[in-house]
Amino acid sequence: MTSWWQSGTIYQVYPRSFQDSDGDGIGDLKGIEARLDHLVALGVDAVWISPIFPSPMADFGYDVADYTGIDPRFGTIADFDDLLAAAHARGLKLLLDFVPNHSSSEHPWFQASRSARTDPKRDWYIWRDPAPGGGPPNNWQSFFGGSAWEYDKASGQYYLHLFLKEQPDLNWRNPAVQAAMLDAMRFWFDRGVDGFRIDVLWLAIKHADFPDNPSNPDWREGMQDIDRLLPTHSADQPEITGVVTAMRTLADQYDERVLIGEIYLPFDRLVTYYGPDGGGVHLPFNFELLQTPWTAQAIARLITDYEAALPPGAWPNWVLGNHDKPRIAARVGQAQARVAAVLLLTLRGTPTLYAGDEIGMTGEPIPTDRIRDPQALREPGIAFNRDEVRMPMPWNDSPNAGFTTGEPWLPLGSDWRTRNVAAQAADPASLLALHRDLLHLRRKHAALATGDIALIAVEGDVLAYERTADDERLVIALNLGTTDQHVTLPEGELLLTTLNEPVPEADRGGEITLAPDEAIILRVSR
Ligand code: GLC
Ligand code: MG
Repeated sequence: MTSWWQSGTIYQVYPRSFQDSDGDGIGDLKGIEARLDHLVALGVDAVWISPIFPSPMADFGYDVADYTGIDPRFGTIADFDDLLAAAHARGLKLLLDFVPNHSSSEHPWFQASRSARTDPKRDWYIWRDPAPGGGPPNNWQSFFGGSAWEYDKASGQYYLHLFLKEQPDLNWRNPAVQAAMLDAMRFWFDRGVDGFRIDVLWLAIKHADFPDNPSNPDWREGMQDIDRLLPTHSADQPEITGVVTAMRTLADQYDERVLIGEIYLPFDRLVTYYGPDGGGVHLPFNFELLQTPWTAQAIARLITDYEAALPPGAWPNWVLGNHDKPRIAARVGQAQARVAAVLLLTLRGTPTLYAGDEIGMTGEPIPTDRIRDPQALREPGIAFNRDEVRMPMPWNDSPNAGFTTGEPWLPLGSDWRTRNVAAQAADPASLLALHRDLLHLRRKHAALATGDIALIAVEGDVLAYERTADDERLVIALNLGTTDQHVTLPEGELLLTTLNEPVPEADRGGEITLAPDEAIILRVSR
């Protein structure tokens, strides 16, 4: 028996940028509700919404000031219930974004914690005395640049923040913190949410003694500050297993809920988050496609290494885009983005698709005076500004692309008049139409949704593999390059090609030529 989160496809919504309903230029819950039919037409199964909880928005919602409320910019708890009901009525699951590693500095827990050394909540966060002789307790760096410690004059101690100083790290070694956070998860499970994406899960527990991190011999100019050191003691500690198990035990008290961990670790460490006997998160996010060189060899290797690393019974997953990383169409170009879509939606495992990638949004440089990403503002030297992938979704060619009647919080991409959902919905040759076709095929063919995978060719720019289930055998062949590629494939019926010209007879298996940026799916008899 497979679960919905195995056969289904997840779609990530960055709520500030999806659809505004009240003219404040910021997307909101009513906006998402109004656009659910786009997701139904697309053919995805679940929506994950980045944080919508009350927040001062220092990190745009990843700084939570109340784990069981809704930020008024996004709406009300009644709007949330409406959205959940509307999603469920359409057969869509809804996932929230849980941020356990840190709260906002405005959270009442932190306000209490910093109020006095003797406050009962002092130990809910991570406070340390200055190093002997003064200065931060150790050398740990923030992901957003600079020391991970902030000095609190009033109490003479430092608190830890692996992100902004407005995002103090919670102390997950404290059982009271664990209990309070599990209560927050329970609150949303009870309301009916279908699961959580869990923010920076691999960071939630730190070494108990806070030793210095060793320096990274591979650090080069232009890399982020955080990468000057290896995260030996600040991440991926053995005790994280207990935290993950506690979350899973809670999820298992409900029906078919899913936990997805945001975990940036190599495969051998990543797969440990499936937990002993599969009692960890259901899906530790596999982010390798976001950073791999775009070659047949590199991707084939990822598939082989990942499949080999998966523990028995573990269900794979693949991510091609998110709100933190450059968009696929920017990395590989519009023509190759079609091939990338075929890859994402035909690999074995749950795909996660980032809103806007289905129409080939690229992101582009943001005028300096409109930069909002706190990371980019703090580390102006780094190559990538996350605002680029958070620009508003262009829905149509009406003013502001149908995103808002007000002033959008980030500028629209310059191509919104032509690259928008309405234009692509009307064009059978569009990237959106290709996504719809692919998602339709995934639903129709068990071989794609839940079947086995085996590589059949890795030659030049060609990557070919087969997916099989029962008596079904599908062959997927991708040309990851820009020249004709010759490959021999089993003969079969052509189910899909990324080309929009009529397909030569020869493209139906046998000795075939794949055109530049072409990907095909064949049905082969077994
Ligand atoms: C995760 C989020 C990112 C956020 C960070 C801190 O990596 O995806 O957007 O800034 O955590 O919460
Ligand atoms: Mg709004």
